[in-house]
Parts: sequence; structure tokens; C-alpha cells
Amino acid sequence: MSHCLVTGGAGFIGSHLTEQLLQNGHRVTVLDDLSTGRAENLSSVAHRPDLKVVHGSITDQMLLADVICGVDVVYHLAAAVGVKLVADDPVRTIETNIYPTEWLLRLAAQSGCRFFLASTSEVYGKNPNECWNEEEDLHFGPTSRPRWAYGCSKAIDEFLALAYHSKYRLPVVIGRFFNVVGPRQVGNYGMVIPRFVEQALAGGPLVVYDDGQQVRCFAHVSEVVDAVIGLTENDAAVGGIFNIGSDQDVTIERLAREIIAKVDPTIRMDFLSYQQAYGQDFEDVRRRVPDVSRLESVLGRKPNRTLGEILDDIIAWKREQIAHKS
Ligand SMILES: NC(=O)c1ccc[n+]([C@@H]2O[C@H](COP(=O)([O-])OP(=O)(O)OC[C@H]3O[C@@H](n4cnc5c(N)ncnc54)[C@H](O)[C@@H]3O)[C@@H](O)[C@H]2O)c1
Repeated sequence: MSHCLVTGGAGFIGSHLTEQLLQNGHRVTVLDDLSTGRAENLSSVAHRPDLKVVHGSITDQMLLADVICGVDVVYHLAAAVGVKLVADDPVRTIETNIYPTEWLLRLAAQSGCRFFLASTSEVYGKNPNECWNEEEDLHFGPTSRPRWAYGCSKAIDEFLALAYHSKYRLPVVIGRFFNVVGPRQVGNYGMVIPRFVEQALAGGPLVVYDDGQQVRCFAHVSEVVDAVIGLTENDAAVGGIFNIGSDQDVTIERLAREIIAKVDPTIRMDFLSYQQAYGQDFEDVRRRVPDVSRLESVLGRKPNRTLGEILDDIIAWKREQIAHKS
């Protein structure tokens, strides 16, 4: 049994991770400022004596030193998340995504913790390759486009984590998440599946940005959490960077059609330009597909739930939420 610290543990992925760690017999401390997370995300485990939830910010250095006391494993997920939020508030991104990561790494090195860093497929920027492996070049756009600040901030976190690994032998594992989806994800920050499902359940239309031919891969949060824990507990993963996601690709238009077919085939689909959705400066990435062979070789498995199964789960959860509210 280990004592785990989950920063961002009241968020979408963090709450599923916290539940799974508790289920595996670990003790968990969550640190979250509830800026994009929600206390209700942890309601199924809130009563447990082996869970402590601290409401506070990772930008508070004294608090970080306090919560890391007695911890064996740090799962660092707290961040300013989502391209839209980051583009709207670049200062907050730097303050949240860069300095606290370094403080946490230093504290973890002092106390000899294992360390999982949540990174993102955004670090590949607009790399033109069909499929991205962990040794690919990073292709960011110009710094005048705030959109690249998110991927860039996470790339700096990766450099910091690798530096602490090589200088202090800190056992770090870096996971680059690719479009993680599932119950509890909210659509407010530009996440496409929750937005489409909410639009469909409200009777439509589904608003597809640009021509809908962007390619993405969606992984269910339960399989992502399984990979995060599996890698962090595996000595063969230490010092490594891993793509974590599904490699089953789909266009956004086909995704919208699948949701329409499942909810109500009479719903309309509309198209909106990126300029109208995000403003003049927006640049998108057309294709985002991970090579997950490194993950598979270390773990012996990869996320493989089908898009249809994933959508059924999310639609059922959203319907339950709506029924609960009314
Ligand atoms: N969901 C995805 O598809 C995806 C893709 C790539 C990377 N990620 C990464 O995974 C991690 C979790 O993302 P998520 O999708 O669960 O988003 P989320 O917004 O649900 O989770 C982030 C959590 O961090 C908390 N947080 C933010 N700033 C904080 C601060 N200053 N102090 C304490 N807590 C703070 C938020 O309240 C929230 O609970 C993030 O690091 C994100 O960059 C997610």
C-alpha cells in the first residue's frame, strides 16, 4: 500500500485515477483548487477514511511542501487545461503549468517519491506525420499565437522532469495523453465529445468546426487510468515518455454522425469556421494519431475500447445527469 498525492484529483481524469488508486488499496491525498474540477467528481469516495481532499492551489509553495509529507507517489495532473482556456489566459498558464511542476519535482526528489507527469499530445504541435511516436520533433507555431502556449508549457514540464531524473535519479514517468474521454468530462473548455453529446441531447444542431475532416483518436478514461497506474508502478517505465491513448482514428464529421445516429437521426449538423469559433489567430492540427507501441511493449496492453462503446457510456452518463437535475 502506498500513499499517493494526486494534484488535480477532483478533475475529470484525476477523479477516475483517485477512485482506482483507492480501489487498489492505496491511500490518496488530493490537492485541487476546483478551478476546472468539481467536488462532486469525488462523491463516490468522499466518505472514505483513506482519502484526504485538500482544497488549495499548486501555486502555493508552502501548501505543496505540506501535502507531499509522507507521500510515496506523486501523480501530477493539475494544470490550466484546454487550448481555449490557455489562449484566453496565457499568464495563468505559465503560473500554473510551469513553476509548480518544478517545485513539486524538487520536493519529490528530496523525499524520494515516484513521479507521474501528465503531459499532452499538444507537445507535438502541428507535426505533419501520419502517426506520432515519442521521439518525433515538436512543431510549434509562432509565439504570437497563444494557442501554442499550452503544448509549450507541457514540453517545458517534460524537460524539467527528465532533468530531475538524470540529475537526481528521481523515478519519473511522463504520459502524453491523446483525447481522453468519458463520464465527468465537461464541454466548457473546447472538448469535442461532451460538446457534441450535450448538443445532441438538447435536440441539436451539432456544430462541427471547419470542414470536419480533422482526424482524432479517443480513449476511454478507465483505460487511460489503468495505463497511468501500470506505468508508474513499473520499473521499466522509469525515465520514459509514453503516448497514452487509442490509435483508432476517426474524423470529427464521422464522430458527429455516430453521435447523431445514437441519439436521434433527425438532428442537423452545422459547420462553423475556426475564426468564428475561436477568433482570427486560431490554428488547428489536422491529424493527431499516436503510435502506442512503446506503451504496449512496456505494459503488454493498450486502450482498445471502440468509439461506439465509449459513446454509449458517455451518452448514458449524460442522460443520467439530465434526469438527476430535472
Ligand atoms: N482530457 C484530455 O484529453 C487531456 C489531454 C491531454 C492532456 N491532459 C492533461 O491531463 C491532466 C488532467 O486533465 P483533465 O482533462 O482531467 O482536466 P480537468 O480540468 O478536469 O483537470 C485538471 C484539474 O486540475 C485542477 N487545477 C487547475 N489548476 C490548479 C491549481 N492551480 N491548483 C490545484 N488544482 C488545479 C482543476 O481544478 C482540475 O480539477 C492535465 O494536466 C491535462 O493537461 C488531458
